Order: sequence, then C-alpha cells, then structure tokens
Amino acid sequence: MYKLLNFAVHGDHSGNLVALEKGVDYVFDVLRIYYIWGTEKNAIRGKHAHNKLKQLIVCLSGSCDFTLDNGSDRQVFHLESPTQGLYVEDFVWREFTNFSGDCIVMVLASEHYDETDYIRNYDKFLELIK
Ligand code: TYD
Repeated sequence: MYKLLNFAVHGDHSGNLVALEKGVDYVFDVLRIYYIWGTEKNAIRGKHAHNKLKQLIVCLSGSCDFTLDNGSDRQVFHLESPTQGLYVEDFVWREFTNFSGDCIVMVLASEHYDETDYIRNYDKFLELIK
C-alpha cells in the first residue's frame, strides 16, 4: 500500500512550517530518519522493496520522481513540495529518478537499517507478493 499525503501548513509572512505528528501524519514508531542529497540527475536509486519497513518520504527541497509498484499497478509521483509526503508500506517496489540538483529527500522509517529486510530482485518481489 502507498498513499500521497498533503500536510497541513502553518504559514504566514514569516514563512512556512509543517509538523509531522504520529497518529495524524504517520502511524508507525519512527526508529530511523535518513536523508538523501547530492544525487546525480540521471541516477536511479531504490530498485527494491521491503519485507517489513514502513516509510514516510518527503522531498524537502527541489524535486524528484518516485515510481511505486505493488505488483499490479505502477504509479509515478513527482514530488516537488515539502507540503506532501509519500507513505509507503512493505512489499512495494520503488525506484527514485529525475533528481533536481537541489533535491533533498528525508525519510522517516519504522525500523532500524537491516539489509535482510530488502528485496532487491524484482522477480523475487513478484514471487513473494503472489
Ligand atoms: P540504499 O537503501 O540502497 O539507498 P537507496 O534505496 O536510496 O538507493 O542505501 C545506500 C547505502 O546506504 C547502502 O550502502 C546502505 C546504506 N544505508 C545505511 O547504512 N543506513 C540506512 O538507513 C540506509 C537507508 C542506507
């Protein structure tokens, strides 16, 4: 399962603020936060799914494309605003492309980093979700 979320923005003449709260904007315990920047425009990141991990992905600066695939549907999300986030659950294949030079992506994750949680082979992913 994946879902595009629109966050509430507290904005006035002095600028904007988004607060992400458990139970309102995301539903899992955040055990890890990481961010990605300085990605080459032509790079393809991701190319994996997870067995267990839930994530909230926010493009804080610039823009990039997130292709999400649940085995039957493939959808491309162009993220270009810190007011939006992509909630992505386990067993979703993801690929990240088309990074702008100023792109910074922040990810809130429900688990510690664990390489054994990764499914890095697309055929195996299709097999597992049958
Ligand atoms: P990877 O998950 O493959 O990045 P992406 O999906 O964005 O292409 O991780 C890239 C490298 O960073 C890999 O060597 C593992 C390491 N890494 C950590 O050590 N901790 C983490 O939380 C993450 C996400 C990656």
